[in-house]
Amino acid sequence: MLRDVILAASRDTHVKRLVAGAPLSRGVVRRFVSGEAVDDAVRTTAALQQSGLTVSLDHLGEDTLEAGQADATVKAYLVLLERLRDEGLTGQGRAEVSVKLTAVGQAIDRSLARDNALRVCEAALAADTTVTLDMEDHTTTDSTLEVLREVRQDFPQTGAVLQAYLHRTEADCRDLATAGSRVRLCKGAYKEPASVAYQRPAEVDLSYVRCLKVLMAGEGYPMVASHDPRLVAIAGALAQGRPQGSYEYQMLFGIRPLEQQRLADAGETVRVYVPYGDEWYGYLMRRLAERPANLVFFLRALASRS
Ligand code: FDA
Repeated sequence: MLRDVILAASRDTHVKRLVAGAPLSRGVVRRFVSGEAVDDAVRTTAALQQSGLTVSLDHLGEDTLEAGQADATVKAYLVLLERLRDEGLTGQGRAEVSVKLTAVGQAIDRSLARDNALRVCEAALAADTTVTLDMEDHTTTDSTLEVLREVRQDFPQTGAVLQAYLHRTEADCRDLATAGSRVRLCKGAYKEPASVAYQRPAEVDLSYVRCLKVLMAGEGYPMVASHDPRLVAIAGALAQGRPQGSYEYQMLFGIRPLEQQRLADAGETVRVYVPYGDEWYGYLMRRLAERPANLVFFLRALASRS
């Protein structure tokens, strides 16, 4: 219920103005976001790599309705990729980027989003790294998978994201569990109707396990994106028989850092999803929706400033 209210607020422009305009302490946002500038993103990447972790960087922004804004997002990725390469942080999959198609024009025109995604993929290849296309709400799933198919014709290393809460996802896993196919499996972070998505957490978890079985048994490269201790343990069991490095764990910046380190110390590939930039509102609201304790933390910080 609370989750639904917060997720609805994440799409409400009035609430957005209120929250994003509040004199938030940097500390609240900084728990989940590495900073606003590309320097922050690069610094965080270097620090995580020092600890044996790998990184996927997300230049924050979504739901873009202007081609100029989409172009600015692409350029931000190009700058980021050049900086990462110049600092020696790419190569051997150590730092890649995650892109939301709605940030590069999907709501304006799918072919614009595809062309913009291709520009980022080209720059990523030049920087010796890869791109993963984030998955957004279910109205964009078909379009995102179509863009993925097109982009993979030239850049087969492009990663996909599938959301276990959607009824369709087990079938999508079967389609995508092919040789060389990088697939991030997450639970799903948006408010979705019962017609397309499981609503009860236990149903989502069961779907996650079914999907993970398909991916782990397939020929692709599964990317296990969850902080859920049970799912992390199940992934470990399902990965028996696969060599370390033929799959990876992924977690969000600021969430369960000790677990990230524990897995990395055990020789697993662990990728931390690191968002940066000033368009943090939608991302922050989804993190608050996932855990009521985060909301309490957030409201306390707001109250202490009013
Ligand atoms: P769950 O929410 O059940 O959390 C399990 C435990 O993890 C909690 O008990 C708590 O300890 C900890 N935890 C989880 N979330 C927390 C939070 N916000 N704050 C503090 N602790 C928290 N979604 C999507 O729709 N499209 C996408 O492209 C992506 N991409 C993506 C990349 C990566 C690397 C990750 C890890 C996740 C995503 N997600 C996503 C988000 C995903 O769908 C999901 O909403 C979150 O990962 C939370 O689900 P968990 O699997 O962690 O389980």
